[in-house]
Amino acid sequence: MTRFGVVTGAGQGIGAATAMLLASRGWRVGVADKSGDHVAERVAELNAAYPVEGGHEPLAFDVTDERAVGDAFAEILERHGRIHGLVNGAGVLFRSPAEETDLALWQLQLGIHLTGAMLCSRAAFPGLRDAGGAAIVNIASVGATFGLPGRIAYATAKSGVLGLTRTLAVEWGGYGIRVNAIAPGYVATEMVRSGLRSGALSEAALVRRTPLRRLAEPEEIANVIAFLLSEDASFVHGAVLKVDGGITIDGTFEG
Ligand SMILES: NC(=O)c1ccc[n+]([C@@H]2O[C@H](COP(=O)([O-])OP(=O)(O)OC[C@H]3O[C@@H](n4cnc5c(N)ncnc54)[C@H](O)[C@@H]3O)[C@@H](O)[C@H]2O)c1
Repeated sequence: MTRFGVVTGAGQGIGAATAMLLASRGWRVGVADKSGDHVAERVAELNAAYPVEGGHEPLAFDVTDERAVGDAFAEILERHGRIHGLVNGAGVLFRSPAEETDLALWQLQLGIHLTGAMLCSRAAFPGLRDAGGAAIVNIASVGATFGLPGRIAYATAKSGVLGLTRTLAVEWGGYGIRVNAIAPGYVATEMVRSGLRSGALSEAALVRRTPLRRLAEPEEIANVIAFLLSEDASFVHGAVLKVDGGITIDGTFEG
């Protein structure tokens, strides 16, 4: 039986790498992103590399739009009945000093990372419940472990993702739905590259601060997501898996 999984934020970065890896492992993937162009490009790539009966599915919606999320998952449920995996990967990041926090940008970031993950999980629930074993992976961040100066909404949302993950795990475990989160460190995607370009982040400082002395590639994060979605993680539930090159366990003081 072909497993069907939905990956949000799959237009680029970690979500795109995850969609590709899942397809390579025989999943039929629902490629979800607010960018319709990116969705179409990714679906074409998946269908060329790993064709599957019926094709991989384009899902262009905004995870903060309750009606669009509801409509998209209602169609998925009608077509498939079952959803074996959901990856809540959509994300954005805006920087400002905390005292200058813009309310609209605060709400946007909490809306995408936190409310969006809740809306997609809630809408996917009937399909996950009926799959006879399913899993959700939420994407937190090192910002759920330590404070991220200049990114108060992002770090707050990512901390909230842990509460969402644990509560869903407790409520839905009895339905055979495993719910876990990963907490990546700095990954070489547009989210980080834009910070490097603007000077908000320094690659040399990030590398120095990370015990593995490099950024992660999106595929390294996708590997861990695919593990959590797989039977190999059949008793991993309500966990937060750090995938951060050791950045959060390094207590070094620089002189
Ligand atoms: N890159 C990192 O270092 C890093 C570290 C920790 C956690 N994360 C998290 O991993 C996830 C993926 O990040 P990335 O680095 O691949 O970022 P990215 O910017 O490369 O990709 C994010 C994707 O999310 C989509 N998206 C944004 N808002 C959306 C919305 N409202 N509805 C639907 N799709 C939306 C974008 O169109 C984009 O395709 C995010 O949750 C991010 O916070 C990233």
